[in-house]
Amino acid sequence: MEKREGEGEGEEEQVVNPWTVSAKGVGKIDYDKLIDQFGCQRIDQSLVDRIHRLTSRAPHVFLRRGVFFAHRDLSEILDAYERGEKFYLYTGRGPSSEALHLGHLIPFMFTKYLQEAFKVPLVIQLTDDEKCMWKNLTVEESQRLGRENAKDIIACGFDVTRTFIFSDFDYVGGAFYKNMVKVGKCVTYNKVVGIFGFTGEDNIGKVSFPPVQAVPSFPSSFPHLFGGQDNLRCLIPCAIDQDPYFRMTRDVAPRIGYQKPALIEASFFPAMQGETGKMSASDPNSAIYVTDSAKEIKNKINRYAFSGGQDSIEKHRELGANLEVDIPFKYLSFFLDDDAKLEEIRKEYGAGRMLTGEVKQLLIQVLTEIVERHCRARAAVTDELYFHIYCWVNVRDETVVSKVIIVNVTISVNSQLEQNFKLQNPFEKLQLS
Ligand code: TRP
Repeated sequence: MEKREGEGEGEEEQVVNPWTVSAKGVGKIDYDKLIDQFGCQRIDQSLVDRIHRLTSRAPHVFLRRGVFFAHRDLSEILDAYERGEKFYLYTGRGPSSEALHLGHLIPFMFTKYLQEAFKVPLVIQLTDDEKCMWKNLTVEESQRLGRENAKDIIACGFDVTRTFIFSDFDYVGGAFYKNMVKVGKCVTYNKVVGIFGFTGEDNIGKVSFPPVQAVPSFPSSFPHLFGGQDNLRCLIPCAIDQDPYFRMTRDVAPRIGYQKPALIEASFFPAMQGETGKMSASDPNSAIYVTDSAKEIKNKINRYAFSGGQDSIEKHRELGANLEVDIPFKYLSFFLDDDAKLEEIRKEYGAGRMLTGEVKQLLIQVLTEIVERHCRARAAVTDELYFHIYCWVNVRDETVVSKVIIVNVTISVNSQLEQNFKLQNPFEKLQLS
């Protein structure tokens, strides 16, 4: 995410919005300040404990270790859940690159946990339209990236009987579009400029995009999934840079007779070069990609993962590692499930009894395993699976080839298939209980 010029914020201030994440000076993002600025709440231990109780399972690492650290109205969602009311989850991805890195997977891994723990439906929006405008991609290229990314998303292992994945280019219309217009009518130009910092140079496609990301928060945008359940609540897991979209959504919701969506928000995953660095698509060494080989993972971590260890072994033994800036330790705190082991590393490495090399070794092992598992799962997301997901009907005798639409992933249909089969009545209601 690069800094935009003329955004009206001083160089010194931290800027966090969907397109810019930059800390003050060369420092770290001040998350406490962000919570104040945005007006969301911190997730405290009692909330984590409550989720533990309600779901009868250990909260996800990302919750236990504060990766997801802020929320809006999460307690209300839990109150409703406790009364026996269901809710649904909504998350998304802007398909701007072919390969995803570990940071991209965090919201999806967490969403999978939430879906499993609460047994709730999930909608996933692929904002191919957004990236077409912002990244200057062609319509076709953004759609292609969306499809490729969808495979990675499916590989995270969602419950396919409760999940709907859609591309904006394919799905926007009908009830969804009606909601977009309702939202659009409530937001003035001055308001979007205030929230998103658009300038007179931005194309009007960008200015009119926010309602597209807003309306999946409303169940009536998905009549085929939630028909008749217009009061179903929505919980959105996302990184905190998406908050502006949903501030706008929450502001508008009651004015058009809808519930405000609740949010559960994550901090940013640090770059290999350290928390002040950026994971940048133009620097492949700034992140671990799900397409990296075991050898690449090993080399990247050994060479580029910023170490908080001391320059010499003697000094390290004496002073210990600075865990505040140490990337191998940070990454382990995201991906090493074993709390006791992490605690041991915190103590031993922090006291200088453990060396950076050993911590990196463990990290290489943990990440290689995650990436290899992901690759195996992604390879299993075959085109056949897509076709089963659709409701394909043979054009000759009208027999249904595959019946229930479970995950509606957009795919380009190869021409042969199109000659023989057509897509019919592709939507079925999602299981709510
Ligand atoms: N704008 C997001 C991105 O660029 C994609 C997105 C759409 C999203 N809807 C969302 C992310 C809901 C989180 C939650 O990646």
